[in-house]
Amino acid sequence: LLRSVVVGVGSYLPEKTLTNDDLAKLVDTSDDWIFQRTGIRERHIAAEGETTSMLGEKAARAALANAGLTPDDIDLIIVGTSTPDWTFPSTASQIQAALGITHGVAFDLQAVCSGFVFAVTTADKFLRSGSHKRALVIGAETFSRIIDWEDRTTCVLFGDGAGAMVLEARPSTGSMDERGVLTTHLRSDGRHRAKLHVDGGPSATQTVGHLRMEGKEVFKFAVGKVTDVVVDAFAATGISPDQLDWFVPHQANRRIIDMSAQKLGIAPEKVVATVHLHGNTSAASVPLALSVAVGDGRIKQGDLVMLEAVGGGFTWGSALIRW
Ligand code: ACO
Repeated sequence: LLRSVVVGVGSYLPEKTLTNDDLAKLVDTSDDWIFQRTGIRERHIAAEGETTSMLGEKAARAALANAGLTPDDIDLIIVGTSTPDWTFPSTASQIQAALGITHGVAFDLQAVCSGFVFAVTTADKFLRSGSHKRALVIGAETFSRIIDWEDRTTCVLFGDGAGAMVLEARPSTGSMDERGVLTTHLRSDGRHRAKLHVDGGPSATQTVGHLRMEGKEVFKFAVGKVTDVVVDAFAATGISPDQLDWFVPHQANRRIIDMSAQKLGIAPEKVVATVHLHGNTSAASVPLALSVAVGDGRIKQGDLVMLEAVGGGFTWGSALIRW
């Protein structure tokens, strides 16, 4: 029996920050409005020419350093992104080349803001099958490139960044007390496209397009439905919310995060929130939050950590990890 054990995390944020006050100079908004409704104070924005794969490579190198490994040790790279450098080749193969890796396999996975949780789930299935030994799982995005900067209902919400995790296949007895990914649960429902989508693409419009969102509808779905995958994770493992050490959800909106935790019976002090600093970085948000909480000593070896995310599609998922 094999299990995927987290052996390193890392992240990277572009240098430039954009505060709510900076945004108030671009569109009719205010720090008060943005902070009250979302909890966001600032976000990072990629520099001209700085692409998703460049952010992802830096996060990957940080995660490898944290794991004490070199690129040669990796035989699987999965990148969750909706803002690839190019239509093809994949951002994962660009990062693979940048890291100088010529063996193994690299591919992208598109599940919008759930991309990282979907990528962890996929990597876990590869590693537990015995086909691959060590995976780099990356969430990397430059949502600033698909934002309509004249639309105040969306442009205040998003930011750029990347986070990465190294997973290693290790023997396991199957005990819930042993380290590793304990259970994963993914869902999607394609009927909700209109509520959150990009209005361009190679096949439909031959343009890149802009993000469009019915904010209230997304909010209702995120709080009303998405928690089912966390309940599934508890049911599959026999673990209860009070045994959890950390809840690390997708960082879209502080109110969604708090209402979800409350609904699940997870104590507020167990919630990791970085949305005030990063905004919504889509697939990068969960590994960015993990990186912060590991870096400041909150998440320690042996802790029980619940990842949760929701994104366009809709897609949603959870991963319960014994750190
Ligand atoms: N500044 C000032 N006023 C604004 C702004 C702004 N940036 N944006 C909208 N308003 C106005 C609206 O025009 C509206 O004015 P009106 O009453 O005169 O019509 C008023 O503020 C209220 O707007 P609502 O849309 O009702 O505000 P709401 O309380 O629903 O908050 C928000 C909007 C923050 C977007 C919220 O609905 C939300 O967070 N939804 C979830 C979004 C989300 O998480 N998306 C990411 C999903 S993950 C992914 O896959 C990308």
